[in-house]
Amino acid sequence: MSSSIVVAPSLLAADFARLGEEVRAIESAGADWLHLDVMDGHFVPNISFGPAIIKALRKHTTLPFDVHLMIAPADPYLAAFADAGANHIAVHPEASPHLHRSLQAIRALGCKAGVVLNPATPIETIAWALDLIDIVMVMTVNPGFGGQAFIESQLGKIAALRTLIDSTGRPIALQVDGGITTITAPKVIAAGADTLVAGTAVFGAPDYATAIAALRGPA
Ligand code: DX5
Ligand code: ZN
Repeated sequence: MSSSIVVAPSLLAADFARLGEEVRAIESAGADWLHLDVMDGHFVPNISFGPAIIKALRKHTTLPFDVHLMIAPADPYLAAFADAGANHIAVHPEASPHLHRSLQAIRALGCKAGVVLNPATPIETIAWALDLIDIVMVMTVNPGFGGQAFIESQLGKIAALRTLIDSTGRPIALQVDGGITTITAPKVIAAGADTLVAGTAVFGAPDYATAIAALRGPA
């Protein structure tokens, strides 16, 4: 069961002076996806990187690029991220006025479409867009920074989303982002998550392969 857990290290915790090398190392270490946190200093109180950096990294790895947009508005930039090599693009419902339209646009660009739910955002937000969603991401911290403490109240939301996703019969990934460690990973997996984002717990570890395997849990 847990051998099917997808691990997506977040580049936010990598050494920004050696990004190409870091991406190659994480692929060798067994990562499944590369999670790319894009922050604009407006939707979230931090600034990270944009499509130019993602495009430069594209030639360093064949890992799927899992792009998490923390920018508002998001719609005007979707094509730029697809062109840069994004395979998945996830948006926050609060960041653009029409979630359904954003998801249609992401799909039309040939990418998998994700929706990210902040800790206070209810699951009902996505109920009428599930047919367009490939990935649901539950924020277990408030977005903006790596290294924050896991918000336990989200375990109930993850369990409720597991039931909702199963009711669709569609292969929608249930991803968790924020404060994922070897302590919290088993909790979110038990609640029904199948995909783990981890920044500090992977890039802050002395051995990336060991860290990724530890998050995935027993085979
Ligand atoms: C936070 C980002 C996360 C972050 C996770 O806004 O969306 O992806 O990198 O970092 P850790 O794993 O350190 O909580
Ligand atoms: Zn993220």
